[in-house]
Amino acid sequence: MQCRAEEQNASVFGKDAKAVVLTDDKPAKPLENQPRFNGMADTPNERLTTVLRAHLTRTATTPSAGRTSRTHPPTRTLTLAEEALDIAGGQDRYLSDMVSPASEAAKALGDATETAPWGDLHEQGKTMFRFSNAWTTDVVEAKTLAMFAYMLKAKRVMEIGMFTGYGALTIAEVLPADGKMVSCEIDPFLKEFSKPFFDKSAHGHKVDVQIGPALETMRGYPVAAEGGFDMIFIDADKGGYAAYYEAALSTPGLLNEGGVIVVDNTLFKGQAWLAPQAAAKDYASWNAGGSAIEAFNQMVKDDARVEQVTLPVRDGITIVRRAGGLETVATPAAAAPAPVPAPTPTPAAPVPVAAAPVVEVVPTKVVEGGDAVMRGVGGKRILDRMRLDGKAALVTGAGQGIGRAFAHALVEAGASVMVVDLELSRAQAVAAELAQKGGEGCAVAFQANVAEEAQVKAMVEAAVARFGGLHIAVNNAGVNKNSAAEDTPMAEFDMTFGVNTRGVFMCCQHEARHMLKSGGGKIINTASMASLIVPHPQKQAAYNASKSAVVKLTQSLGCEWASQGVNVNCISPGIVDTPLIWDNPALKPLAERWVADMPIGKLCDVTDLQAAIVYLASEASDYMVGHNLVIEGGQSLW
Ligand SMILES: NC(=O)c1ccc[n+]([C@@H]2O[C@H](COP(=O)([O-])OP(=O)(O)OC[C@H]3O[C@@H](n4cnc5c(N)ncnc54)[C@H](O)[C@@H]3O)[C@@H](O)[C@H]2O)c1
Ligand SMILES: C[S@@+](CC[C@H](N)C(=O)[O-])C[C@H]1O[C@@H](n2cnc3c(N)ncnc32)[C@H](O)[C@@H]1O
Repeated sequence: MQCRAEEQNASVFGKDAKAVVLTDDKPAKPLENQPRFNGMADTPNERLTTVLRAHLTRTATTPSAGRTSRTHPPTRTLTLAEEALDIAGGQDRYLSDMVSPASEAAKALGDATETAPWGDLHEQGKTMFRFSNAWTTDVVEAKTLAMFAYMLKAKRVMEIGMFTGYGALTIAEVLPADGKMVSCEIDPFLKEFSKPFFDKSAHGHKVDVQIGPALETMRGYPVAAEGGFDMIFIDADKGGYAAYYEAALSTPGLLNEGGVIVVDNTLFKGQAWLAPQAAAKDYASWNAGGSAIEAFNQMVKDDARVEQVTLPVRDGITIVRRAGGLETVATPAAAAPAPVPAPTPTPAAPVPVAAAPVVEVVPTKVVEGGDAVMRGVGGKRILDRMRLDGKAALVTGAGQGIGRAFAHALVEAGASVMVVDLELSRAQAVAAELAQKGGEGCAVAFQANVAEEAQVKAMVEAAVARFGGLHIAVNNAGVNKNSAAEDTPMAEFDMTFGVNTRGVFMCCQHEARHMLKSGGGKIINTASMASLIVPHPQKQAAYNASKSAVVKLTQSLGCEWASQGVNVNCISPGIVDTPLIWDNPALKPLAERWVADMPIGKLCDVTDLQAAIVYLASEASDYMVGHNLVIEGGQSLW
C-alpha cells in the first residue's frame, strides 16, 4: 500500500516525494449538486451499486450507506465487494459534486420536479404518463449538453422530449441572446408546469415548447422560415428513437450542416449489452426499453451515413454526426462564389443553330445554405436516400414469385426481412437465400395465413419482437381463381376477397397500429393491373374486383395516415412470369395472346418490379400517398 502511495506521489510531485498520507480531518462539505440516485438504478454504475449492495446484504456484511461520502472514510480493510461498491457507487455522486452548480432558476425547477406529486397528478388525469422525478435529466447531464451546445457555438437546439424543462433551460442558458431552444413535448401539462420557472429565468424566453408528437413537430418544422438546428437532442420514448433519429438526419434542412444529434439513455442500466433479466429484479427491469436501446445503438453503428461515439455520462450519451469531415461543409466565406464580372454587352452576332457551341462549366462547390437539390436532402445523394440500412421489413407471400423478389430487393438495399408465407418450407428456403446474401440475422421465416386475423396480429408482433421494430410492410400474398361469373361459387369469391382484400386490410391495420405509435413507416400492397382493365380472355371477376378494392383501400389508408408518417402505396404488376400463372391450367395457355396485347412484347419478370419496392420502401418516396404504381409493359394503354 505504502509503496503504491509513494509511486503515486512521485508521479505527481517528483520521484523524491514522500508518501502523503491522506487524512480524514477535512470538514464535510455540503454537496452543492444533489446526486439523483435514490435507489432506482438508471446508470450502469447505479445498477452495479444496487447489485453489489444486494450481494453484500445477502452475504451478511453490512455495507455502510454513506460509505462514498466526499470525505475519505477512515482507513480500514475492505472486502473486494465493498471496495467495488465504493468505486461504483461513488462515481456518479462524485461527478455531481464536481460539476458547476446549476443556476438558481434551474435549481428551482429541479426542486419542483423533485417534489411534484406526480402520482396524484396522473391519478387526477392531469398528466398523460405516470411521471416521476426519474424522468428529468440531472445536473451532470444537463451541463454536459450545455457544454456541447457551447462548444458547437450553437444558436439553435432542438430537444425531443422536454419533461419539466430542466435540460432545456440549462442549454438555453448558454445560447446567444438570439438563440432558440425548441423543445418538443407531447404532454401539455408540462408546458404549464415549466412556464413560471422559464418566466423567472433570464434565458427562459429562448425556450419554445412545441406540444404534440415530436415526430410531427420535426417533420412539419418551418425550417425555411426559421432555420435548422445545430444540435438535436433525442430524449423521448425509446421505441421512437429510430424514427426521431431518421427524421433528424433526413428531414430537409432540420439538422444544419456541421450539426450533431445527441441521444440520451444509450447505456440505459447497462441493458444495451446485458442479457435480459427477470422483470422481478428491480434493478434489472425495463427490459423492453433495454432491447429498444440495444437495437437502436446497433442501427446507428451500422449506418454508413454517420460517425458516432458513446460517452458513459450518466446512462449514456451518444453523439452522432454526418460522415465526412468539416472539409465537406464549406464555411460561408470559403463557399461564397467569387463575384462574376458582369459580361460586357457585345453586339449579337447571328449564330447558326447547328453550330451552337457546347458551354463548358467548372463544378460549383457545395455551399452551406445551398438548396437541397445542390446539397442532397439531409446531405444524401439520391441513391443513398433509397438505402434501407437498419430498417425492418416483412413481406407476405414471399415464399415464391413476386414476394420472393421483393424480399431480395429489400435485403439488397440493407433491410432485415421477415419472410412470411402460408407454406413455411417456402418461407424458410427464401430466408436461407437471403441470409446467404445479406448475412446471418438479416432474414427470418414466419408462417401465417393473412386471411386469419390472429395470425396477422402474431406476424406483426413477431416482426417487432425479432427486429425491435417494423418500418416496412409489403402485403403481397394473393390468390387468383378463374371462373365465369355466372358459375363462380361463393366460397371462391369469399376466399379471393378473404386473402386479397380483407387480408390486405387486416395486415395494413395491424402494421399501422405499430407504425403510428413508433414514428411512421411504409406499407406497400400488391394490387394488379386488373384493377385498371379487365384482363382477357380469362374470366376472373372476383379477382379483378378484389384488386380494385386493394387500390381503393391503399388510397383511403394512405390519406388517413399520411400526416402521421405512414405512407401507404401499391404496385400493380401486369402479367408476371410466376407460378401463379404457370401453375394455373386456365392461364398457362394464354401467354401468347397476352403478349400480343403488350406494347413491350414480353411478360414481366419479377426482377422488373424490384426497384419499385425499394423506392416505395425508402424515404425517397415520402411524398407519395395512396399511389398505384402500374408496371405492366404498357398493356393497360392498349
Ligand atoms: N403473377 C402475376 O401475373 C400477377 C400479376 C399482378 C398481380 N399479382 C399479385 O402479386 C402477388 C404475388 O403473386 P405471385 O405471382 O408471386 O403469386 P404466387 O402464387 O407465385 O406466390 C404467392 C405466394 O403467396 C403465398 N400465399 C398465398 N395465399 C396466402 C395466404 N393466405 N397467406 C400467406 N401467404 C399466402 C403462397 O403460398 C405463395 O408462396 C399476388 O397478390 C398476386 O395477385 C400477380
Ligand atoms: C426522459 S423525459 C425527457 C427529459 C428531458 N429531456 C429533461 O431534460 O429533463 C421524456 C419526455 O418525452 C416525452 N414524450 C414521450 N413521447 C413523446 C412524443 N411522442 N413526442 C414528444 N414528447 C414525448 C414525455 O412526455 C417525457 O416528458
